[in-house]
Amino acid sequence: MIDRTFEEYKALLDEHILDFIPDIDQKSITLYDSMKYSILAGGKRIRPVLLLAACEFCGGKAEEALPYACAMEYIHTYSLIHDDLPCMDDDELRRGQPTNHVIYGDAVATLAGDGLQAAAYEAMQRDMLLYFDNFDALKSRVRAAYEIVKGAGVTGMVAGQIADVEAENKRCSKELLDYIHITKTADMIISAVRAGARLGSCSEQELENLTVYAENLGLAFQVCDDILDVEGDEELLGKEVGHDEANSKATYPALYGLDESKRKLRELTDAAKDALAEYYDNAELFVELAEMLATRVS
Ligand code: FPP
Ligand code: MG
Repeated sequence: MIDRTFEEYKALLDEHILDFIPDIDQKSITLYDSMKYSILAGGKRIRPVLLLAACEFCGGKAEEALPYACAMEYIHTYSLIHDDLPCMDDDELRRGQPTNHVIYGDAVATLAGDGLQAAAYEAMQRDMLLYFDNFDALKSRVRAAYEIVKGAGVTGMVAGQIADVEAENKRCSKELLDYIHITKTADMIISAVRAGARLGSCSEQELENLTVYAENLGLAFQVCDDILDVEGDEELLGKEVGHDEANSKATYPALYGLDESKRKLRELTDAAKDALAEYYDNAELFVELAEMLATRVS
């Protein structure tokens, strides 16, 4: 059962966020510094909190899910570092601070991303090693790790990123735009929720309902991100806006216009909330999060 608020899960996560990074040799300390710089740069921690909350929603304990929640945030952070590189979106500001490569240079930033991805897999594998004598616990961990790796992988986030890069300066169909949004952004949100559910030993019904919630929330998240790039406040967002249009990116507002994008955001948010309606107050955190994201743009 969920008996903590978003902020309480975030506080738990923040307390342990560096715990699963291996002790890095003094000779490669720059690697650690640059990884740490981006991990502590003020992310909202939406994905790991979703994972912890989904775990408890299904009956598990958040503390036991921490290696997977932190892995999720390491992978998310790596993707942002690489996305900001000059060879990708070439952004100098993220979460209100200079991007990793602005501080450490392109080579170190690339390696910080690589290191965070490797640390994520190591954190999960190390945790699994502890459960060899408990088959049920091991099974849910293997399943959770697979959800995460798949969402981050070459049919998930990385596939979305290449489609996004290749769609730049080209006409993009609505179908391709959906593919980009689902893979690049929604898949990581879906895997966070499903991994948490697996760790909490979910029922089939819980997994199905949570997946529908996450699919809609994930798409809403990227539509929201697109809208904010058009009319968001740089100060509040902590990053430069107007980049998508300047770089001729495939976005919802570019294809559908702002009004239709906002209508779509509302539709997705309502569908996310509906998916968990049968759980009433038990799903309050999920429902509030969906509403909070949608109202960021209205
Ligand atoms: C902002 O999340 C991030 C997104 C909307 C996802 C964008 C997807 C990518 C950049 C994929 C990049 C992939 C590769 C392989 C380079 P957020 O608002 O939760 O950010 P926060 O953590 O700063 O709060
Ligand atoms: Mg990008």
